[in-house]
Amino acid sequence: MNIVLMGYMGSGKSLIGKGLSEKMKIQYIDLDHYIEIQEKKSIPKIFEEKGEIYFRKKESFYLEEVLDTYKDAVISLGGGTPCFTGNLEIVKKNKNIKSIYLQTSLQELTKRLFKERSKRPLIAHLQTSDELKDFIRKHLFERSFYYNQADYKIATDKKDANQIIEESISLLL
Ligand code: S3P
Repeated sequence: MNIVLMGYMGSGKSLIGKGLSEKMKIQYIDLDHYIEIQEKKSIPKIFEEKGEIYFRKKESFYLEEVLDTYKDAVISLGGGTPCFTGNLEIVKKNKNIKSIYLQTSLQELTKRLFKERSKRPLIAHLQTSDELKDFIRKHLFERSFYYNQADYKIATDKKDANQIIEESISLLL
């Protein structure tokens, strides 16, 4: 069984994915990291040099590759992965995948992402916390349609990583 984590940037997919895989003693794959290794470039560099459309094509390609290669792993998607070109359908139609949406509030996402926005090409240009919040509000509204189709949803605000990991395990049992 593969466990797929989805959610907005900054929702904790990587941290929770790693912890969950350790607890369950299965492999952990971070799709963004996988793309960076395959392309031999960081995500910001891929966006800068090749553009978002190229990145989205590669993201789809490597998602399929990861799902074909790994059958018993925790896989963290990128924030946009389920929202583009059939990726969600690939995840949903596979009977051996359980998906979890890590749902984090607008306030919490703004707080977390303001500090690290320079590493994220989609929000690096936003100057103030209010600008970032407005961007996330609209973006999250559009993307929630996709995230909400995950098999399970966990509200992450006011929970530490261990609580979220335990909650994930109890949902998956
Ligand atoms: C993106 C999220 C990023 C990365 C890329 C695009 C998005 O992943 O895939 O910068 O469209 O939300 P994280 O959610 O891991 O930051």
